[in-house]
Amino acid sequence: MTNSTAAGPSTSAGSRPDPVSAEARRRRTFAVISHPDAGKSTLTEALVLHAKAITEAGAIHGKSGRRSTVSDWMEMEKARGISITSTALQFPYITQAGNTCVINLLDTPGHADFSEDTYRVLTAVDSAVMLIDAAKGLEPQTLKLFQVCRHRRIPIITVVNKWDRPGRHALELMDEIQAEIGLRPTPLTWPVGIAGDFKGVLDRRTGMFIRFTRTAGGATAAPEEHIPADKAHDAAGIDWDTAVEESELLSADGADFDPDTFLDCTSTPVLFTSAALNFGVNQLLDVLAQLAPSPKGQLDVDGNLREAAAPFSAFVFKVQAGMDSAHRDRIAYARVCSGTFERGDVLTHASTGKPFVTKYAQSVFGQQRSTLDTAWPGDVIGLANAAALRPGDTLYQDVAVQFPPIPSFSPEHFSVARGTDPSKHKQFRKGIEQLDQEGVVQVLRSDRRGDQAPVLAAVGPMQFEVASHRMGAEFSAPIALEPLPYTVARICDPADAEALQKMAAVEVFTRTDGVMLAVFSTKWRLETVLRENPTMELRELVAAGR
Ligand code: G4P
Repeated sequence: MTNSTAAGPSTSAGSRPDPVSAEARRRRTFAVISHPDAGKSTLTEALVLHAKAITEAGAIHGKSGRRSTVSDWMEMEKARGISITSTALQFPYITQAGNTCVINLLDTPGHADFSEDTYRVLTAVDSAVMLIDAAKGLEPQTLKLFQVCRHRRIPIITVVNKWDRPGRHALELMDEIQAEIGLRPTPLTWPVGIAGDFKGVLDRRTGMFIRFTRTAGGATAAPEEHIPADKAHDAAGIDWDTAVEESELLSADGADFDPDTFLDCTSTPVLFTSAALNFGVNQLLDVLAQLAPSPKGQLDVDGNLREAAAPFSAFVFKVQAGMDSAHRDRIAYARVCSGTFERGDVLTHASTGKPFVTKYAQSVFGQQRSTLDTAWPGDVIGLANAAALRPGDTLYQDVAVQFPPIPSFSPEHFSVARGTDPSKHKQFRKGIEQLDQEGVVQVLRSDRRGDQAPVLAAVGPMQFEVASHRMGAEFSAPIALEPLPYTVARICDPADAEALQKMAAVEVFTRTDGVMLAVFSTKWRLETVLRENPTMELRELVAAGR
């Protein structure tokens, strides 16, 4: 079965679309969402390896003696072996049918403390791969990220990984997906061999047995053989018969792939992989190319669609500095929504109306950067030294447009930041301002605490570690952080600020964007305040909803 509704890679059939639409149709811009340790980094490497962008696994995430890292560049990441910063990887992929598509894989931080960062990345994708550990099933962070995808109506492809290790029964995992997240799983492949004894997969669309062969250390693409159904029993024995029986059960249960419900976010195609052994990775690339949606333009603040073929527009989804210790520069990552980008184009920065020159456009492949000359809808442009750009900002050419802002998450951790070296006052201010602009932390101020002691607010405490590390290493302004006993924040009316300020276990701050935040020791304290002041309006910060 092939999909007819999702845009396919480049085709030659019919009348020729305009170049922008043709390029948009070839693009697949997606992110992998998962709980830490499910294998996201390993899968990312494997995808790039299979697309032949690199020849040996290990060139992206340098873990456990594998080769040096392309996407974990910060020292802290190296020390902890986690990925904090996000990267955009772009590589071409030629499908088994010979069509070329361009994959834009946006990497997201694995740790829950950086979920706000992950959220920003998810505003820039057209689909997501939800990666599940075969032994663990759906885990908390996966569920959290899934909710963001559901809210943003991002179609999801589910990948059950680590099938080479003992794990749960495949049918049981399908039941769990249905029960926990309400998406109907529609497996495209079905494992031949139980978890821990992965022989290959039954391709449910062709009926073929795809047999995988291990390579040493999973360092190169795993060879695969396509064996017709009538020869598969001889090749895999009873495991093949079991896979066929289970696949028939799934069909009887209505679990066959359906493009409409996939794009409508009510069903999810499922694949089985071992990213570490490079098993099933080709199938995932083909599914992305054949079934995942291509860029379709973007809704503006008024809910009107800026079509992909319209004049150039993009929005900044992330600002990142300090990636290159030699340069200490700052890159704003913008996702192209419509039109063509040519390096050197003069764009308009929607929030200021000022012109923005794009001489320093780059594509970023982990640590490697190269000059980017052209980009199309779905692509990510790295704009170096773009001091004026903030996450959520719109850039456009010719016809004005403003995309909705990216909402910030409600912080749950608060610390006063003080410079430990009084002679570095200027550096301290500059550093705090920059971290604020990048969205590394939110910066809160109040007359009571003064400008020398801003309060840093974060969704997760590791954001403080990043802020502290960067203040010392990048701005030469080491800081001491003093935790404050607050856990809940609400947007308050300036008219209520004085009354709130007088209450015990409550404090009021102004965020850099002018929003006034009241913070409370606990949610019970907040509830008491609301009970005792029924007319007071304390609004929740939006956690999702571009
Ligand atoms: P993450 O980015 O989602 O946090 O996960 P990561 O890729 O770092 O993988 C977490 C661990 O799971 C790694 O083991 C990795 O090798 C292993 N892994 C990933 N995919 C598979 C798979 O398909 N099969 C098996 N058996 N293991 C897999 P580690 O011990 O933490 O590191 P390493 O020494 O293996 O590099």
